[in-house]
Amino acid sequence: MILVTGGAGFIGSNFVLDWLQASDEPVVNLDKLTYAGNLENLVTLQDDVRHHFVQGDLGDRALVERLLTEHRPRAVINFAAESHVDRSIHGPEDFIQTNIVGTFRLLEAVRAYWSSLPAGDKANFRFLHVSTDEVYGTLSKDAPPFTETNPYEPNSPYAASKAASDHLVRAWHHTYGLPVLTTNCSNNYGPYHFPEKLIPLMIVNALAGMPLPVYGDGLQVRDWLYVKDHCSAIRRVLEAGQPGETYNIGGWNEKPNIEIVHRVCDLLDELHPKADGGSYRALITHVQDRPGHDRRYAIDARKIERDLGWKPAETFETGIRKTVQWYLDHPQWVQHVQSGSYRDWVSKQYGAVVA
Ligand code: NAD
Ligand code: TYD
Repeated sequence: MILVTGGAGFIGSNFVLDWLQASDEPVVNLDKLTYAGNLENLVTLQDDVRHHFVQGDLGDRALVERLLTEHRPRAVINFAAESHVDRSIHGPEDFIQTNIVGTFRLLEAVRAYWSSLPAGDKANFRFLHVSTDEVYGTLSKDAPPFTETNPYEPNSPYAASKAASDHLVRAWHHTYGLPVLTTNCSNNYGPYHFPEKLIPLMIVNALAGMPLPVYGDGLQVRDWLYVKDHCSAIRRVLEAGQPGETYNIGGWNEKPNIEIVHRVCDLLDELHPKADGGSYRALITHVQDRPGHDRRYAIDARKIERDLGWKPAETFETGIRKTVQWYLDHPQWVQHVQSGSYRDWVSKQYGAVVA
């Protein structure tokens, strides 16, 4: 079996769902259920014995050690993190605690468990750390995309905390020999994305007739990857990645934010036309820029393609259409997330399981 942390969040829940669709190997899912963790994402696994959910903190060493000894996973995949740049600007403390201290404690618990394994299991064990392209800092307009050897130049508290965690993971390999893999991925989008991030925020605000807040001139560039492609890349890295290596994962979809917002509006105009016949683009409002806003991220994903044969399956066009359609098809999920009622829902639905 495998142990994932943060498996009730956006990427983690997509990963758990995909994993159990593709194989019967059980998953222990450790998640603290912060505001970003939502068990409603995993409702289809409610009666599935292959999914074992535990509410807890990745920094709770005693709990993690108990889970490792009890379930004896062959791999740990670390998704758990505070993940929103704007929140990190308002309050960096949780980012330091979870992303740095939490990863450190997790690494220590995993190292103790891994050291105790018989030689064969020890050699086959993997610790996969899920990170971001934001650790590399910002790119000028014409600079080549980030490769795995780019220097780390994180600019936001979020990026700095992820960079620190990547360094810890690297050091646990070099110093202790822990068989680690690190992935640095570009911006994900798709189902179950919490509507504080650009794409889901634009979709849910547009549907509610609310302003679509574009920071500054909207010409900041990100690379976008459909979340299910990220999940398949992680599976591939886990299967065939070389311990100690890092792999950049991207969608080859560099786009300015304003173009993304236009595309979301145009798709909504097509799939869910406004009653008055107007365009959702009329809701776009330029607002004050994010402090220290990175201008451009871009990923060179040739290493994972060359060494592991992985490429994204979706183009931006196919992925964004699926995403907008998913939000149109799941108004209840959106409503529960927005009202915070998923917390009540979780205790009603799961009771003691999450206690
Ligand atoms: P998310 O915020 O949607 O989910 C994070 C999950 O971690 C939540 O379920 C939350 O409850 C859980 N969590 C938070 N603190 C915890 C703690 N102390 N102990 C246990 N669980 C805790 O984030 P996401 O977008 O799914 O991102 C997952 C990972 O991927 C993060 O490490 C993030 O840095 C990385 N990443 C995200 C993106 C992206 O575009 N979303 C891109 C590249 C990398
Ligand atoms: P976000 O989804 O927060 O991801 P990240 O900051 O990790 O890249 O933001 C993506 C881009 O969209 C980023 O350049 C900031 C911008 N943005 C807006 O213009 N308006 C918004 O309301 C949000 C949330 C983001």
